[in-house]
Amino acid sequence: MEATEKTARQMEFLEKARGAAAAYAERLGHAPRSYIETFGCQMNARDSEKLRGILREAGFADAREENEADLVLYNTCTVRDNADQHVYGRLGRLGGNRKSHPGRIVGLCGCLMQEPHAVEKIKKSYPFVNLVFGTHNLYAFPELLYRALTEKKRVFEIEEKTTVLPESLPVERKHGFKSGVNIMYGCDNFCTYCIVPYVRGREISREPEDILAEVRHLAADGVKEIMLLGQNVNSYGKKLAEPATFAGLLRRICRVEGIERVRFMTSHPKDLSDDLVRAMAEEKKLCPHLHLPVQSGSDRLLKQMNRHYDRAHYLGLVEKLRAAVPDISLTTDIIVGFPGETEEDFEATLSLVREVGFDSAFTFIYSKRTGTPAASYPDQVPDEVAHERFDRLLAAVKEGAERMCGRFAGQVAEVLAEEENRQPGYITGRTPHNLVVHFPGTKEEIGKIVKVRLSDPRGFYYFGERV
Ligand code: SAH
Ligand code: SF4
Ligand code: F3S
Repeated sequence: MEATEKTARQMEFLEKARGAAAAYAERLGHAPRSYIETFGCQMNARDSEKLRGILREAGFADAREENEADLVLYNTCTVRDNADQHVYGRLGRLGGNRKSHPGRIVGLCGCLMQEPHAVEKIKKSYPFVNLVFGTHNLYAFPELLYRALTEKKRVFEIEEKTTVLPESLPVERKHGFKSGVNIMYGCDNFCTYCIVPYVRGREISREPEDILAEVRHLAADGVKEIMLLGQNVNSYGKKLAEPATFAGLLRRICRVEGIERVRFMTSHPKDLSDDLVRAMAEEKKLCPHLHLPVQSGSDRLLKQMNRHYDRAHYLGLVEKLRAAVPDISLTTDIIVGFPGETEEDFEATLSLVREVGFDSAFTFIYSKRTGTPAASYPDQVPDEVAHERFDRLLAAVKEGAERMCGRFAGQVAEVLAEEENRQPGYITGRTPHNLVVHFPGTKEEIGKIVKVRLSDPRGFYYFGERV
């Protein structure tokens, strides 16, 4: 069956799911309520918006909290062991409450479900879970939902690779004014520590026309800020029948009327082109922020990690970017305790952090992922050594981030108002540099871009005044 036929078939299942949900509503005595919990990255967050869109179309209302839900769905992550443990912890809690929710549908999907050992564990130890599917059959959620609503048996459906992209499905966005847009799925890089290529499959780029149509549609629906999503956006389009480049795509997206800000993640340093650097300098709608994961400052470890660049290349990119976009914000990801990491390797990472001056960094302790090459490397770093290095790294990151954040003090910034602050009368928003600012405002302003003076630096964020 062709992909388009498969998608059309899902629209028929959505109709059937609507009927089954109506029957469920009769048994319950109210419209069924659903609750989705998303673990992991922005890909999963975007997938959850698609799942929510389908549930809404099928007639499910949003539950305010998990406990009042008639259908609970966990969209899981497995990038590090603590992500797995988080899911199992929440499942344990859900199992403890199951007596008070007979007949409730409990579903699991996302990256952890692409791991056979996890699926086995769910089958055996969590009998109350009655719907399981993976990242490759997200597109079939209408059918899976229908089956979960009508079959007595537990529904387990995991596909091994992507045959149909999860597109042309209803979507329910979390925010009206900003949206993620998938430009590619999967990853071909096989960094030796990383599970993502195994659970998300091979890299597939969407056609530029399809992406642009989606962006235009979002703009017409009031979206101002777009976040383009992919595990390595810099390799976008290379394998398309008519090859396209990421920089070219960005320029076309910046032309879409109504879109005011364009962001993207994640960039891999090995594929960052001069063309992209030029686009960053020239395109006014492109935000002056780049998330550029470095992982380590040691050439020896970068090689072991299969990252395909060295420290000098990374520093060269930083220099080029700063020459093109003088006040650009740079953020990164760093792993400590990769197998074989010596004190000297770690010092190289620390010195790179000091040399670059990151606006912020996500720091992770290496987590062994079964099936990845690094899991069987000798010299796994003892926990206490990794933790001690992690603390030192965090201190260096914090020191740099505070210094970088301070550079905006006194400036007036265009801030996209995003949400109400806990402090009454205050709104929280972001500058084009991705800096968080709290400022006096009302919830009617959410989704608008307003001018704010960055008057009061607080380490990693600002309190500002309206101008
Ligand atoms: N595709 C993105 C990152 C996806 S995962 C990229 O290449 O930049 C997000 C981050 O998690 C990675 O950048 C890495 O720093 C971290 N990470 C991935 N696998 C990990 C592991 N096994 N242990 C610890 N951190 C890991
Ligand atoms: Fe993982 Fe590397 Fe792919 Fe990022 S580029 S998802 S770190 S394998
Ligand atoms: Fe996690 Fe999957 Fe994202 S493993 S980090 S949710 S791609």
